[in-house]
Amino acid sequence: MLNDLTVNVSKDYENTDEASWKFVQRVKRLPQAIIIGSRKCGTRALLKFLELNPTIKAAHNEVHFFDKPQNYKLGFDWYRSQMPESYQHEVTIEKSPAYFVTQEVAERVKLMNSSIKLVLILRDPVTRLVSDFSQLIANRIATSGEYEESDYNIISDEHYSEYQATNETFKSIVWEKAEEEFENYVLRPDGGIDGQRKAIKTGMYPVYLERWLASFHIKQLHFVDGETLISNPYEELHKLELFLSLKPVIKHSDFVFNHKKGFFCIAYNNLEQQQDLIGNSGPNLKVKRLNDSSRTTCLSRSKGRRHVAVSKDLTRKLQKFYAPYNEYLYSLSGRRFNWGLV
Ligand code: A3P
Repeated sequence: MLNDLTVNVSKDYENTDEASWKFVQRVKRLPQAIIIGSRKCGTRALLKFLELNPTIKAAHNEVHFFDKPQNYKLGFDWYRSQMPESYQHEVTIEKSPAYFVTQEVAERVKLMNSSIKLVLILRDPVTRLVSDFSQLIANRIATSGEYEESDYNIISDEHYSEYQATNETFKSIVWEKAEEEFENYVLRPDGGIDGQRKAIKTGMYPVYLERWLASFHIKQLHFVDGETLISNPYEELHKLELFLSLKPVIKHSDFVFNHKKGFFCIAYNNLEQQQDLIGNSGPNLKVKRLNDSSRTTCLSRSKGRRHVAVSKDLTRKLQKFYAPYNEYLYSLSGRRFNWGLV
């Protein structure tokens, strides 16, 4: 079933005793598929949800092998060592969203495995930009020493409400100021959108996609709509299982909408599945006990966080700015996303 996913660099093993040994053993393998991006488009949710398929073996942290010179120079053996163990019939996968926008990555991936499967999740570039900027603000609040919420901070009962009030005031001031900061970030002095800003560039998807298409056939790339992943995760996960030549096992009922979080979370329908996934949860997962027979697991607070407020005028301006890029993306990818229609 997965022969077409065989990694070229491991071909040396194919006719050796080691090959038959590897077939029956759980060993670390180079990935046969990579989620290459894009940043803040739902990469973590996609990977966590994909792990509902037990054939998927995912590296938990972002490996950053192809984009960080200090990692790349360690070679493929190091890269393999970052992967989980898997059987031959399973699919090893990692996600490092920086790959999509980093110049050298496509060629380097091709050097490793020219027939690899690539997964690219994209969302409305305006929402992506706001999400990216909001992460900056949230990180600033989190690292502003005085108000840091840390396990090590001990606040006495009598000072707790005072602390909480100050903390909340501080946060709301930062978020209020952030609206103006966002405007200053995205607009040039003449009022146009500043296309030189890094976070704005990331949303010019076809600029980067062209680079990947120079190295890989379009059929090796699968596009996931990050907006649909939010509203109907099953739909995107099912398509992805098919693309990865997996037996589709992910079901509608694996997802339950959590009103408090405002996003779909994973519903565990049996204890075995729950232990498998929670045991392997890695970062960004939190387990919520609902009752004795069922549990849901949501992504952490850093996923689905508060967004900076953006005026309607500025949103429209950004939509107009991205519209030609989106059109070009649709023609390159063959998939039309219904994003930010002006
Ligand atoms: P926000 O936190 O700005 O809402 P990434 O994992 O690539 O950094 O993407 C983070 C984004 O994933 C979040 O951005 C959120 O909108 C999106 N997302 C998609 N499905 C989600 C889910 N089920 N739970 C939480 N966040 C999800």
